[in-house]
Amino acid sequence: MDTRPHVALIGMMGSGKSTVGFWLAQSEGLRFVDLDAAIEERHGRSVPEIFQTDGETRFRDMEQSELAECLTSEQPLVVSCGGGSVLRAGNRALLRKRAWVCWLRASIETLTQRVRSGDSRPLLGEDPVADLIQICDARAGLYAETAHRVIDIDGLEANQVAERIKRIRPRQSAAR
Ligand code: S3P
Repeated sequence: MDTRPHVALIGMMGSGKSTVGFWLAQSEGLRFVDLDAAIEERHGRSVPEIFQTDGETRFRDMEQSELAECLTSEQPLVVSCGGGSVLRAGNRALLRKRAWVCWLRASIETLTQRVRSGDSRPLLGEDPVADLIQICDARAGLYAETAHRVIDIDGLEANQVAERIKRIRPRQSAAR
């Protein structure tokens, strides 16, 4: 039996969770789950559409059940969590318990370069930099309390971040 723990990547939108997660899963031979993509597939609508028609609370419900389902997998996997997955205390507790959690921490400058306002970012409005600063401030403590480790990703390529994670992540699960 493969006893490696699940790896969960958390952090702000634009911190590279999906790309890093994909690289990491590929090179470790693990299944990769992008939580937003899994929600979109299950519900047949894009995340912005879900926000628009059902509202954020309903999206958070979907996110919570998708996360719970994927973390029950017996096979270890890499999951890239939506930036707001840490908002609910239940998700934070579940992540800590069922996965090894790594926070991809980025400066506002890096996030701003990567994230543009537009349809695909329902939480960003006309002033995306101000929105990013406000969201980041509100969530930094939640990312910190959920993560087992932090990687500062400024100036790093996705494959470099994945290599760092490979070096520091535990080989055996204590939690599962
Ligand atoms: C969100 C981040 C998005 C997506 C949704 C809400 C957030 O995911 O889940 O738009 O609250 O930060 P990414 O972090 O993958 O962009």
